[in-house]
Amino acid sequence: MTYKIAVIPGDGTGPEVVNEALKVLRAVAAKENFQLDLGFYNLGGEHYLKTGETLPDSVLGELRKVQAIFLGAIGHPEVKPGILEQGILLRLRFALDQYINLRPVKLYPGVDTPLKDKGPEQIDFVIIRENTEGLYSGAGGFFKKGTPDEVAIQESINTRKGVERCLRYAFDFCLQRNRRRKLTLVAKTNVLIYASDLWARTFQEVAGDYPQVKTDYAHVDAFSMWMIKNPEWFDVVVTDNLFGDIVTDLGAMIQGGLGIAAGGNINPTPGGVSMFEPMGGSAPKYTGKNMINPLAAIAAGQMMLTYLGEKKAAQRVENALVQVLGKHVKNLAAGEMGYTTQEVGDWVVKYL
Ligand code: IPM
Ligand code: MN
Repeated sequence: MTYKIAVIPGDGTGPEVVNEALKVLRAVAAKENFQLDLGFYNLGGEHYLKTGETLPDSVLGELRKVQAIFLGAIGHPEVKPGILEQGILLRLRFALDQYINLRPVKLYPGVDTPLKDKGPEQIDFVIIRENTEGLYSGAGGFFKKGTPDEVAIQESINTRKGVERCLRYAFDFCLQRNRRRKLTLVAKTNVLIYASDLWARTFQEVAGDYPQVKTDYAHVDAFSMWMIKNPEWFDVVVTDNLFGDIVTDLGAMIQGGLGIAAGGNINPTPGGVSMFEPMGGSAPKYTGKNMINPLAAIAAGQMMLTYLGEKKAAQRVENALVQVLGKHVKNLAAGEMGYTTQEVGDWVVKYL
């Protein structure tokens, strides 16, 4: 089996962590007898500053033809905020219809969490964020911009189709995960009387097709509290784009930080192209220092293997991560690991 993968190392420390993840992916491919056909794409802040291009149509056309995309990080201190996010990351998500943002929140043994009474037993859930609509749709506009009477409107677009496909993915995911079979909808029905109402009504309806899944609801503010106080209450959580963006950063912190948090941008339809990335940004101040933690990128590689159907390879990578976290890397923060980026990658390879 050969998998065609597009690699976008991107900005800052992106290329360094991608190198380590690819080292691990190549090693596990050799052990499990599959091939990786990697194509590299130079996109990001450097490329934009040189050429004025974010994501050229020709590149997007090529990315449509791969089986998965592996992304390091996008973000450059000299580029105005929004240009690369809109032009590359959101454009890819929208154009490739990656309508699910999948974020496991899992505390591995040996990793510290700021929640002093919680351990790996209590912190193990998955957040499913709608990834193509809501407040991220870019709908809205200015009126009388730059005047004292200025009005700015940012609209949250929630379509029945978009909400339903995300909810169905979440119910299916919950069944397949087969843990507690509990799905929590996170919204704000007491205030967002249109958007959250559509989510809640659709949730009730779709739930009728999944009698095996227990349903649960939390307002997003209360959910943020409970993530800290009672993370063990959650199994699979589904929410809209903005709420999902916020609570997944909170999730990253309780699982030990950006050094370990990974995510997938998934298009679950057959032939859909999905994209996997470490959650941390480009960390410009650590660029080129061989200090950044590659484990999040390696965890993103593990998610990609699961998605490609290489279950045994994914399990090997996860086991190796657990070994490295249990035996070596105690502090996950960049610059505080006590090891270089490459040493950490080498250990993961060793324990495969
Ligand atoms: C994420 C990131 C992006 C988002 C930014 C970079 C646009 O924070 O993947 O969560 O908000 O979706
Ligand atoms: Mn985010």
